[in-house]
Amino acid sequence: MDIVLIKNGFVVDPMTNTKKKLDILIENGKITKIEENIKPFPSAKLIDATDCIVSPSFVDIHVHFRDPGQTYKEDIYTGSLAAVAGGYTTVVCMPNTQPALDEPSLIRYVIEKGEEVGLCRVLPAAAITKGRKGKELTEMALLKDAGAVYFTDDGSPVENSHIMRVAMEYAGSLGSFVADHCEDLNLSKDGVANEGEISASLGLPPLPPEAEDVMVARDCILALNTGMPVHICHVSTKTAVETIVWAKALGAHVTAEVTPHHLYLTDEEWLDFSCNAKVSPPLRTHEDIEALRWALASGIIDFIATDHAPHAHHEKLLEHQHCPPGMIGLQFALPITLELVRKDYFDIKRAIEVLSTKPAEKIGLKPPSISVGEEAEITIFNPSEEWEVNEESIKSKSKNTPLLNRKLIGKVKYTFYKGKIVYEDK
Ligand code: NCD
Ligand code: ZN
Ligand code: ZN
Repeated sequence: MDIVLIKNGFVVDPMTNTKKKLDILIENGKITKIEENIKPFPSAKLIDATDCIVSPSFVDIHVHFRDPGQTYKEDIYTGSLAAVAGGYTTVVCMPNTQPALDEPSLIRYVIEKGEEVGLCRVLPAAAITKGRKGKELTEMALLKDAGAVYFTDDGSPVENSHIMRVAMEYAGSLGSFVADHCEDLNLSKDGVANEGEISASLGLPPLPPEAEDVMVARDCILALNTGMPVHICHVSTKTAVETIVWAKALGAHVTAEVTPHHLYLTDEEWLDFSCNAKVSPPLRTHEDIEALRWALASGIIDFIATDHAPHAHHEKLLEHQHCPPGMIGLQFALPITLELVRKDYFDIKRAIEVLSTKPAEKIGLKPPSISVGEEAEITIFNPSEEWEVNEESIKSKSKNTPLLNRKLIGKVKYTFYKGKIVYEDK
């Protein structure tokens, strides 16, 4: 028998409403005992979780694993390594691969490769339109049957409002939903940095916040009028937040996610001219960050998604107009969320809720929970341990982040998936 005893950890589980020091016994992958003091015994592997928080592991419904087609940036194996190092055991891969995930066979490919790797649950989102070209809807029912958990053309918006409306209706009637990368391409044009003082003083092509705001408003109105759900990807502006407040108040089925980088970094990251600051939507201002943090605390923004977007070093060395947007995120979500707990935006229970419970519920997955009878799907982390972001600590194949060589507080020590340890900090 395979026995693990996690001792002296502080258990936080929004599912069972637990916030307490407890020991956890795991036998053959299943949680068999949760008590205040379980005595160690020789046949049990002992994990000393003193000073650590023990929580259900995390769920990220927005990652780019670049598989198939761009595996020089990331693949399902290296993406899974980064996920479990970040405390995640479920990820949803975006369909902006090459080819785009617009056929059932491609959906099955992602699922099968994820299972073969076996480190975490790798689920695909399917494209809304064929080839993500915005013209013709994909066969949503077939894609859902093949295992697609939702629909998005992420990387691109669905520009045509009629197509978006019909997509919302189809996806909604299948019991699924569409998620939109909200960007009016006529407004964003060749913009690179958020339009404002920084873009002006550095002479970077400006990208106005309205490019996001008008699309968020359009999607909210379509959701309101169709009665169907829409999910807003990577919300980054104060006005988008205010629009979601308004739409939710009117009863629209709108949900929204925010990335760790939009919660933590501003357009000041451009000051060193590195394209590691380039991301879509762009890094915004302190005022936007305040609005996003407040919105996440209050539930206006439903949860965190990393939008983990790996790009190769040589691509990020290109000039700012030509370099692809995106930054990695799977290992930074926890420390950035903990920073907001330390700054009193919300408590540790809400932190776990936005990293685990809420995103799981959104994709219809039973949220992981630390309960007797459940398979262990647990993340153990030290909320006060400092670590440096560098080539070695980043587990992703790509290292594109403005956080390189900076220190973060909050470190994952162990991740359990399907009852087994899939990550151990050494
Ligand atoms: C993403 C990518 O690289 O695929 N880039 C990004 O800047 N976020 C696409 C996307 O999420 O829109
Ligand atoms: Zn996007
Ligand atoms: Zn994305």
